[in-house]
Amino acid sequence: MVIAIDGPGGVGKSTVARRLADRLGLPHLDTGATYRAATLRVLRSGVDPSDGAAVVEALEGMDLRIDDGTVVLDGEDVTDAIRAPEVTAAVSTVAAHPEVRSRIVALQRRWVADHGGAAVVEGRDIGTVVFPDAAVKVFLTARPEVRAARRARDAEAAGKDPGEVAAELAERDRKDAGRRVSPMRPAPDAVVVDTSDLGIDEVVAQVLELVESAQARSERAEEASQFRSSSTGPRRP
Ligand code: DC
Repeated sequence: MVIAIDGPGGVGKSTVARRLADRLGLPHLDTGATYRAATLRVLRSGVDPSDGAAVVEALEGMDLRIDDGTVVLDGEDVTDAIRAPEVTAAVSTVAAHPEVRSRIVALQRRWVADHGGAAVVEGRDIGTVVFPDAAVKVFLTARPEVRAARRARDAEAAGKDPGEVAAELAERDRKDAGRRVSPMRPAPDAVVVDTSDLGIDEVVAQVLELVESAQARSERAEEASQFRSSSTGPRRP
């Protein structure tokens, strides 16, 4: 079963997704890391992140491996490098190119298939585009000031002015939600959870309840289909 956890930065998505994966014994894919690794490759190759054709060329032959939170790009551990401010500043521009998205989405689907087809997958478009049939879809939100305060505590934003962090988050939201291809938005069947006044444990507990209901639904559907196939089987004369 795929559990899709979408939402903007600073809502607690990664922490919730990791905890959930631990509790359920499932692998966890942070799809933001896939776009960040692609962006790092683009920046290193020296091309302009807004030039779609050049970006696609720069990504040719990219070897990206992600496991247990470690990101290896072309044989090099870039787990920390993909969190650098230059990457954060360019990632939404790189991620807006449709050809980039189609390649990265294929890579994400392959990752889940290679990990047995069941995973907790976090991102911006998981419930809408990457796994539209996900058994559970959650879209996390939080008030802008809460998100900025949470982000300001992240190592990534260490030493930055809180106002600057808030402005960067707003700018990334504008690009991520405003892009033409697979903009960030809740899927029509996603459960939207405002995490502003909730602790991580409370959010995890809410999502676990959704997972249990989805499991019960799929067991009932399985029983019904077995019943149908046994009752419509060949009849003896
Ligand atoms: O979750 P994050 O901050 O690491 O994501 C970095 C960027 O990657 C985000 O600003 C937009 C892009 N992204 C995306 O376009 N689609 C996803 N599923 C995940 C991330």
